[in-house]
Amino acid sequence: MTRYGSFPGSRPRRLRTTPVMRRMVAENRLHPADLILPAFVREGIDAPQEIGSMPGVYQHTRDSLKKAAAEAVEAGVSAIMLFGVPLDEKKDAAGTVGTDADGILQVALRDVRAEVGDDLIVMSDLCLDEFTDHGHCGVLDEHGRVDNDATLERYAEMAQVQADAGAHVVGPSGMMDGQIGVIRDALDQIGREDVGVLAYSVKYSSAFFGPFREAVASSLQGDRKTYQQDPANARESLRELALDLEEGADMVMVKPAGPYLDILAKVAEASDVPVAAYQISGEYAMIEAAAQRGWIDRDAAIMESLTGIKRAGASMILTYWATEVARKL
Ligand code: PBG
Repeated sequence: MTRYGSFPGSRPRRLRTTPVMRRMVAENRLHPADLILPAFVREGIDAPQEIGSMPGVYQHTRDSLKKAAAEAVEAGVSAIMLFGVPLDEKKDAAGTVGTDADGILQVALRDVRAEVGDDLIVMSDLCLDEFTDHGHCGVLDEHGRVDNDATLERYAEMAQVQADAGAHVVGPSGMMDGQIGVIRDALDQIGREDVGVLAYSVKYSSAFFGPFREAVASSLQGDRKTYQQDPANARESLRELALDLEEGADMVMVKPAGPYLDILAKVAEASDVPVAAYQISGEYAMIEAAAQRGWIDRDAAIMESLTGIKRAGASMILTYWATEVARKL
């Protein structure tokens, strides 16, 4: 008698025979609408500058940023996440240019909104590290420690300034306790109930952020271990998620993505709002570097890495390949 629950009756390979068969039975598909493009704009440059550790990614001028945003729209990408790089001499201990209406990030938000209107969701990184001379995500106390509650006041102001400049969604990435609630209140206070909060709820202190430090010309000495999570821990991600949902997050994010797919799967399971994952600078750099050496198939590796993130449960993926991948899909 043939047994269909086991070999030889059961042969999983039948569903892998042709490309169309494999496509039909695929459980997960990437779509351009899943994708969010992170982009850098730098003050005081007159041509886009390629980031050495992120080949193919640029510090944009105001003009080239507008062009990149228009290309993202054209490709069907859903959103852009903006990071501003100010002139070095404008950095100070409080990150003042982060709340200046004429600071580079606010200028870029206005530029991009004027370019794309509502055809692209315009998001802004809400964090002080690009603007502080010490490179930390918050302001420091007299002992040089990152002062949580003093930082929240800065974030509240940043949220309002970014909303005024045209952000549809703000993305607090500084991992201060209580930041989502304070930001939600600050937006509501100025009548901006329409501006959403994409909470970087789960953010690990990761070596894979390395290339980003070059991308934003970071002034950081040391690390962010007193505010970003310990890679050894899983449970506290669910706690961070619960707190952010309670404080009013509209969407949540897990970051980095690739080395934390187990965390992403847990968060996707527990969250009742959309979940994003951020394929960060180091994840990008590793694939590009290995591909340059001919050690892996670049395009296949990119698609596989993104499919893995989707399979783990992300509804949206921030990736520096967003426009390229969206064009291919
Ligand atoms: C903080 C911020 C960082 C990234 C996004 N937002 C840097 C950090 O936390 O050290 C990293 C993104 C990447 O590595 O691609 N403003």
